[in-house]
Amino acid sequence: MNENILLEMEHIKKEFPGVQALKDVSFQLRAGEVHALLGENGAGKSTLIKILGGIYPANSGAIRINGTPVTIASVQDAQKNGVSVIHQELVLVPHMTVAENIFLGREPTAPNRAVDFKKMNAEARGILDSFELDILPDGEVSSLTIAQQQMVEIIKALSFNARILVMDEPTSSLSEKDVGFLFDTIRKLKKNQVGIVYISHRMSELKRITDRITVIRDGEYIGTKETATATNDELIAMMVGRKLTNYYTRTYGEPGDPVLEVRNLSDGKLLKNVSFELRRGEILGFAGLVGAGRSEVMKCVFGIDPCIEGEILVDGKPVRISNPEAAMRLGIALVPESRKTEALFPEQSVMFNITIKALKAFIRGLLVDTDKELAITKEYVDTMAIKTPSYAQTVGNLSGGNQQKAVIGRWLATKPRILILDEPTRGVDVGAKAEIYAIMNELVKQGVSIIMISSELPEVINMGDRVIVMSGGKITACLPREDLSQEKIMQYATQLTV
Ligand SMILES: Nc1ncnc2c1ncn2[C@@H]1O[C@H](COP(=O)(O)OP(=O)(O)OP(=O)(O)O)[C@@H](O)[C@H]1O
Ligand SMILES: [Mg+2]
Repeated sequence: MNENILLEMEHIKKEFPGVQALKDVSFQLRAGEVHALLGENGAGKSTLIKILGGIYPANSGAIRINGTPVTIASVQDAQKNGVSVIHQELVLVPHMTVAENIFLGREPTAPNRAVDFKKMNAEARGILDSFELDILPDGEVSSLTIAQQQMVEIIKALSFNARILVMDEPTSSLSEKDVGFLFDTIRKLKKNQVGIVYISHRMSELKRITDRITVIRDGEYIGTKETATATNDELIAMMVGRKLTNYYTRTYGEPGDPVLEVRNLSDGKLLKNVSFELRRGEILGFAGLVGAGRSEVMKCVFGIDPCIEGEILVDGKPVRISNPEAAMRLGIALVPESRKTEALFPEQSVMFNITIKALKAFIRGLLVDTDKELAITKEYVDTMAIKTPSYAQTVGNLSGGNQQKAVIGRWLATKPRILILDEPTRGVDVGAKAEIYAIMNELVKQGVSIIMISSELPEVINMGDRVIVMSGGKITACLPREDLSQEKIMQYATQLTV
């Protein structure tokens, strides 16, 4: 089947200082095809598509589009060749408006050559409407939720009418509804013979939307399979180089006394009368649709946002948590949802990022104990299996999934008694997910209590002792383990929204 080949990337090599990110990768895309790139965190997926998108030059190799060799030395070159990329890390400019972001570098101008804001906003309005997005074109991007930002990023890429569209983890923070919407859009694009490169760690999504799957491992091409006939086991074995047994590790114990009680919490905005308790040694899942208020609850508990009404008790005693430092002193840690905006110091080293909270919490005075710093870094780079050439590596240069692992490692290093994880496995590969589950299980065995917010239902179902479901800022159910099913959770998750 050689017909309709839209894109060929051949023998691509790319080296970063200390890392051979791509050793010799070839990739082919047909017109009208959705072709997945699959591989572990750090395998080289984003690097390959950044080369296609003109972000990095390759060290060697060739790119052909419709059979013609092309040089892609810049984002503009990529666009000229009909390539549009939705990057894994959101690259919208936060303090510009939605419309300015969509039209960045190609703003409509008035006859006097000034930017025609009216026209730009009207055009943006048209695009947003055609995608049924309830977003204001002249609102600042920074005021949008992460899911909304991701949708803006997606429609921006679509508005270029690209022949080749690349999506690097486009669904990582989308709601099920938005995912459905994105997939409808993808199907339409396929009919118009657009070729789509699709990167995701969610195997179920790959099954739903892709035609072929190419696996890369450690910068090397492993193979290409037809989605219809490939099995999960086979793909995972190609990805990690071995069979993966025991995906969810969970040994259930008898949970102890309540360590955290939240009573009638309201934030004056979304949250109303939120009450729940977390017991010693349990995993309490928090399910719900994007926007249900799960992260908002945790931000109140962790002292990031004020709670207007309500009470929080730790170990049965009422506490006031007016900032994250106060929460940390009570043994609470929060791994936030968005590593890019809330968590990472991208310009700093892996060591700095992992030790920053632990050192602040445990070391008095100004002198940093380098041995301790090294020991903590080693422990959590190993525990989280973070792939990095050195501890001094700039964290922003790690692959997306490895950045996420660094953030989790940082909070584990504070040795919390109450660990709140907001979408901990987002963007993390299957092998690393299994490792995170095993670590969570180990922690609860040691008596740590964990809250896990997750939009992946199989994950809350398989890991939770109990699952709380939220909808429209309220708790709609608290389901015991025996009672958990995807249908039941979805029923309560949509209760107040439809
Ligand atoms: N700008 C950079 N400087 C140095 N090293 C880099 C840079 N970008 C990527 N790397 C390294 O190249 C390798 C491949 O990274 P890449 O981001 O392509 O992985 P990925 O397959 O997209 O992983 P993930 O699933 O985690 O997103 C990693 O070892 C990463 O640390
Ligand atoms: Mg990536």
